[in-house]
Amino acid sequence: MAKVPFVTKEQLDEIVKKYPTPFHLYDEKGIRETARGLYKAFSWNKGFKEYFAVKATPNPTILKILREEGCGTDCSSLTELMMSDRCGFDGSEIMFSSNDTPAEEFILAKQLGATINLDDITHIEFLKECAGIPEKISCRYNPGGVFALGTDIMDNPGDAKYGMTTEQIFEAFKQLKELGVKEFGIHSFLASNTVTNEYYPTLAKQLFELAVKLKEEVGVHIGFINLSGGVGIPYLPDQTGNDIAVIGEGVHKVYDEVLVPAGMGDVKIFTELGRYMLAPNGHLVTKAIHEKHTHKEYIGVDACAVNLMRPAMYGAYHHITVMGKENEPADHVYDITGSLCENNDKFAIDRKLPKIDMGDLLVIHDTGAHGFAMGYNYNGKLKSAEILLKEDGTTEMIRRAETPDDYFATIKGFNF
Ligand SMILES: Cc1ncc(COP(=O)(O)O)c(C=O)c1O
Repeated sequence: MAKVPFVTKEQLDEIVKKYPTPFHLYDEKGIRETARGLYKAFSWNKGFKEYFAVKATPNPTILKILREEGCGTDCSSLTELMMSDRCGFDGSEIMFSSNDTPAEEFILAKQLGATINLDDITHIEFLKECAGIPEKISCRYNPGGVFALGTDIMDNPGDAKYGMTTEQIFEAFKQLKELGVKEFGIHSFLASNTVTNEYYPTLAKQLFELAVKLKEEVGVHIGFINLSGGVGIPYLPDQTGNDIAVIGEGVHKVYDEVLVPAGMGDVKIFTELGRYMLAPNGHLVTKAIHEKHTHKEYIGVDACAVNLMRPAMYGAYHHITVMGKENEPADHVYDITGSLCENNDKFAIDRKLPKIDMGDLLVIHDTGAHGFAMGYNYNGKLKSAEILLKEDGTTEMIRRAETPDDYFATIKGFNF
């Protein structure tokens, strides 16, 4: 089964006349449709809100589109908070899910009126000292062990640095109640990139049961439960994707089973999705510039791991379409490489593709989240532009490419 790019070759040929490759291209229509699908799936919950994980795609134009669709932001750092503020999100629309948090970040989050999600029990004292305890607060939960669906181990929370243990979250809620907190939330992120409709409902059940106990034993008002991120996408072409409507219904069912009978039918459900919202709605567009025939067949492209780190970092699969050759037989086996002096700078290894000629445009799929954002400047390579493909088919540059001056700007003797 093939993955189909959201642009045609004809469209892309026109776009590259305006913007040199490589660049990230985002699909406004797809982004809006994804957000609408999510809101529909959770429309049974009155206070539902998606706080888009800014770290996935930190671009103000994207954030503003999501805001128009009803989303807030989930921030993890000072600059993400600043970006959310400058994009017009008010405190009620900002979640601050950080860890190992510097004081200045708590201070800004508190000033903005963002919902602070505490990663650790010791952060209560830290927050009290640096910014004061707000009336509404959230705590991040980590039950430890492994997160399994039946016999499938999905992830390993016991090994993750995030969140409080069960004992700690009870103690934290007690302390926070004494410190005057009026409204509490619970947050948890136990498995990443889950391609199953069961993840959210299973997580939700655990959190709902915990919420009932916290309410009964500590006597606190739980206003919201944040299922965070982790709903994945099918990076592989033969994988079946998640069905967000089924996921929403699955959470609805456990909500009715656990929270409603406990008199907690007013609890709001929040999400902090990044990948699900944006990954399929972004392509990295790059051009074949070299071919090399040594011990293997290599195609060198003008993008590198600086533009998309996931393959180098996690060995992640990203599907590749050679534009205009969709119907040609995949009878060549290539490593598709970037130019870094790192042998893991390969977008694909031993990938069956049609014959690639120099100048061919390649679309690397599913790069809209944790793509551009993860980039770095190794080898002095520069980050690319980001382009928005608008609903009317026109394009807009929503971030220019870095120039050498940007790279030199922080270096003594070059610019200051
Ligand atoms: C606290 C938090 N929320 C949300 C997300 C978004 O996760 P995803 O992109 O898998 O939905 C992340 C990802 O790292 C995260 O750390």
